[in-house]
Amino acid sequence: MRSHVLNARTTRAYSSTSGNPAPGRPVAPGVQERPHPRSAFGRRVVGIIGVGKVGSALARLAIAAGYEVLVAGSPRQLALELLVDTVAPGARVKDASELARRADLVIVAVPFGKVDSVDWPLLDGKVVVDATNYWPPIDGVLADVEADGRSTAEQHADLNPAAHVVKSLNHLGYHDMEEDERPAGDPLRRAIAIAGDDADAKAVVADFVDAIGFDPVDAGPLASGRLLEPGHLVFGRELDRDELRHALAQEGATRLV
Ligand SMILES: NC(=O)c1ccc[n+]([C@@H]2O[C@H](COP(=O)([O-])OP(=O)(O)OC[C@H]3O[C@@H](n4cnc5c(N)ncnc54)[C@H](OP(=O)(O)O)[C@@H]3O)[C@@H](O)[C@H]2O)c1
Repeated sequence: MRSHVLNARTTRAYSSTSGNPAPGRPVAPGVQERPHPRSAFGRRVVGIIGVGKVGSALARLAIAAGYEVLVAGSPRQLALELLVDTVAPGARVKDASELARRADLVIVAVPFGKVDSVDWPLLDGKVVVDATNYWPPIDGVLADVEADGRSTAEQHADLNPAAHVVKSLNHLGYHDMEEDERPAGDPLRRAIAIAGDDADAKAVVADFVDAIGFDPVDAGPLASGRLLEPGHLVFGRELDRDELRHALAQEGATRLV
């Protein structure tokens, strides 16, 4: 947990150790508790593809924020319902087609090298957050990815041009997701960047980011998703909204708001 003021030079790498849900934390005086994201039609539904470190952390945060959470795991996870009951109680295991049909927002949280195994045609018309990272120490060197020249999110968007792909939730470690979430207005609230070409899709993702405890920052078009990738200024750094905007601008992000 951060006990210091935000420091733009602070950097954290991912950890491979498993994270625990953060206990309830005190709310600073005068800070509003987050309202639950309920619409007139009931709870919003988030679908998470990939029930690993990131997927389960986001599931816990989304449940705490009042979302209905559906998850789809790997075929190798034979006891997935038992696992989910343990690591993300309240989330429900669904097959990818039901998840895609019901979710207002789908998060892809699978290993980078397995993004192709996601059933992208199911995601027509959906808001899809690409939370993956190409990280050669973990994924190996992928010559086609490196030769492409575009952001990895643009490459993934090619897998279904009818999906509204947004890059976000990838530039902080899974453990930080739960340790650093804060209510709106908290002076220590960390920011998360959102890059995408569809303003409505980015608004949906911004609502989600805010609801789970972070300030959303528009990073511009999907091409700017590159600036959220490993090796860039914002990756793994604890930044508040202004610091994040500044870091993105330093690297030339366009259309920042
Ligand atoms: N770890 C972090 O702190 C962090 C932070 C931000 C972003 N990321 C990125 O987020 C992604 C997930 O990272 P992670 O650390 O959560 O990985 P992880 O712990 O390995 O979890 C990924 C899960 O996705 C499953 N999976 C693979 N293909 C799938 C499919 N088609 N449908 C459903 N599930 C599938 C994997 O199962 P199998 O084992 O059977 O493949 C695994 O259970 C990666 O791209 C990573 O770079 C990681």
